[in-house]
Amino acid sequence: MTQYQNIQQQLLNVPKVWLVTGVAGFIGSNLLEKLLLLNQTVVGLDNFETGHQYNLDEVKTLVDEAQWDRFTFINGDIRDFATCQQVVKGVDYVLHQAALGSVPRSINDPLTTNAANITGYLNMLTAAKEEQVKSFTYAASSSTYGDHPALPKVEDNIGNPLSPYAVTKYVNELYAGVFAKTYGFKTIGLRYFNVFGKRQDPNGAYAAVIPKWTSAMINNEEVFINGDGETSRDFCFVENTVQMNILAATAPDEAKDQVYNVAVGDRTTLNDLYYSIQAALGENGINHTVEPTYRDFRAGDVRHSQADISKAQTQLGYQAEYRILTGISKAMPWYKVFLG
Ligand SMILES: NC(=O)c1ccc[n+]([C@@H]2O[C@H](COP(=O)([O-])OP(=O)(O)OC[C@H]3O[C@@H](n4cnc5c(N)ncnc54)[C@H](O)[C@@H]3O)[C@@H](O)[C@H]2O)c1
Repeated sequence: MTQYQNIQQQLLNVPKVWLVTGVAGFIGSNLLEKLLLLNQTVVGLDNFETGHQYNLDEVKTLVDEAQWDRFTFINGDIRDFATCQQVVKGVDYVLHQAALGSVPRSINDPLTTNAANITGYLNMLTAAKEEQVKSFTYAASSSTYGDHPALPKVEDNIGNPLSPYAVTKYVNELYAGVFAKTYGFKTIGLRYFNVFGKRQDPNGAYAAVIPKWTSAMINNEEVFINGDGETSRDFCFVENTVQMNILAATAPDEAKDQVYNVAVGDRTTLNDLYYSIQAALGENGINHTVEPTYRDFRAGDVRHSQADISKAQTQLGYQAEYRILTGISKAMPWYKVFLG
């Protein structure tokens, strides 16, 4: 039995109360789905800034009535401390996902990103500490590696941030360290590397690359590749991310006050990604034939990214169940229905 299977069995035997912030978003709604399927009680917080009611509605169709009844949704904002205090009441485990993602958004509007990602984060962290929850796990980011050139990325070796977004995610880690030292409140930060999967928003100016390209291909529109297409990323299917959140939330004390890479350990170029999505859509009867259009590199983007995942493997028992191609095959039928 893997550590993940073991923990899932324990949670089924003795269900807990979870808070998922950003629950109407991509990763948050995938966490919600898994936790409800494990018969957990879940409180969800979101202000629908980038999340959607239809994500919650979809989860409702994927769980049974008794499981759905264990979910309480609160429409609220993490920038409001009183709301954070209210939502952590009686909670065992916090999975803090709410934030404004996207490097370009943060470059266009650093103040709004800062308010959600730093003030909002500090509000949640403080409220969770006051409530003395059993664990606080938060969404950190691979953008914290910044301009550090080494590959693969190892948790202790970070460079300078390359965008306001990266600054906010790094500040989250700094606060987490200070809360452990000054209050003995130990958390776990999960440095996500390019997560993808169902319910990742394909719409809007700040859509991530996989949903954006998938949407363009399904509509037989032009796909733009920033730079020469040799920029690379460690794309991580959302189920791996869900696994890491559950492992982190239930981790023993000695694994806390740490950050962990959440990825697969692979490196895929944008050019390879393009043809992988095209092939996976072909298997779903969607034949996109337009060649990509190359344009300038995007400001704030890291050139290459690939994680060393050995720390998560050894300290949390993480096993990346899905590599990129399996994840893309699982995600494409969902996009076909969603965008169809
Ligand atoms: N998706 C990735 O590849 C990736 C990579 C690194 C880090 N992350 C981090 O993971 C987390 C989840 O990202 P996602 O991809 O699911 O994004 P998402 O935009 O789909 O989800 C974020 C959710 O947070 C909510 N939110 C934003 N501001 C809020 C506020 N002030 N109050 C309450 N709710 C608020 C949004 O409405 C949304 O539902 C974020 O913290 C993000 O920075 C994501």
